[in-house]
Amino acid sequence: MSFKVRIANAAKGAERTIEVPTGATILWAALDQGVDYPFGCQSGNCGACKSHLVSGEVTMEGYSEFALSDEEKARGLILACRAVPWKDCEVAWLEEDDLIVHPRRVLACTVVGLDDATHDIKRVRLGIESGGPFDFSAGQFASVTFAGCAPRDYSMANLPGDAVLEFHVRRSVGGTVSAHVAEKLKPGDSVRVEGPFGTSYLRESHRGPIIAVAGGSGLAPIKSISLFRRPNRARPLPARPLHGAGHPACQPALHAGPE
Ligand SMILES: Cc1cc2nc3c(=O)[nH]c(=O)nc-3n(C[C@H](O)[C@H](O)[C@H](O)COP(=O)(O)OP(=O)(O)OC[C@H]3O[C@@H](n4cnc5c(N)ncnc54)[C@H](O)[C@@H]3O)c2cc1C
Ligand code: FES
Repeated sequence: MSFKVRIANAAKGAERTIEVPTGATILWAALDQGVDYPFGCQSGNCGACKSHLVSGEVTMEGYSEFALSDEEKARGLILACRAVPWKDCEVAWLEEDDLIVHPRRVLACTVVGLDDATHDIKRVRLGIESGGPFDFSAGQFASVTFAGCAPRDYSMANLPGDAVLEFHVRRSVGGTVSAHVAEKLKPGDSVRVEGPFGTSYLRESHRGPIIAVAGGSGLAPIKSISLFRRPNRARPLPARPLHGAGHPACQPALHAGPE
């Protein structure tokens, strides 16, 4: 059994109705059926998938109040990644003034560079073999699949359109993919990259200064944003990154390039 969910603003101007199987979330079904939908954590913590429930009824699985406040919920807002329909519904994600949707790409890549950015963060550089160019907005992330591993999300630290992608993969205690990257990954290995995803990116029309706060490998998207706004580009604007790291040596190492 399934429910029909109409996504009012999918594919700009075109009506898109998806089938959501009983027990599945609206976001899961939309992505499964190839419908672009804004999202980030997929776990009810970031608020990127916040949407209006125009009609119908959903059950909300657990989420953080940071992502959706009680007041927002009372106004009829939901998180698509946590919303399980139990009637046919209509939803609309929140419009933003300069929401940018880049074409989703599936890239075949090869590891062309691998070094220790810090004691527990590998800087992984991937050359695009096919499927490019990879356009995205500085600050976005991709789903990265190292050969033999499950996909994981990592933020691009390079500039949009670069032929070589840069990711910072921090070893997570007890983690499987980050352990593979730390111990087994080597130059020449194949990697699948799908994206871009995420709504936490630089709004290019923003004219004011930026304060960017990051911890550890969270610097990757901030590095991309900072590169985008560096002084020799057309529209330099002040950006102040505030980076927290477990060891002072980690900060310059992460900011630097590999060469
Ligand atoms: C939008 C987004 C962007 C991201 N960007 C980056 C980035 O730029 N850099 C980066 O390093 N990471 C990033 N991450 C995190 C990254 O996607 C991975 O989650 C991270 O690398 C850990 O993956 P893993 O396979 O090593 O760990 P997993 O195997 O997924 O395990 C994660 C944690 O869960 C614990 N765990 C696993 N199984 C169990 C179990 N059965 N019971 C209890 N605990 C368990 C593990 O011990 C570990 O601590 C991002 C995540 C998101 C959502
Ligand atoms: S994707 Fe982060 S709250 Fe839904």
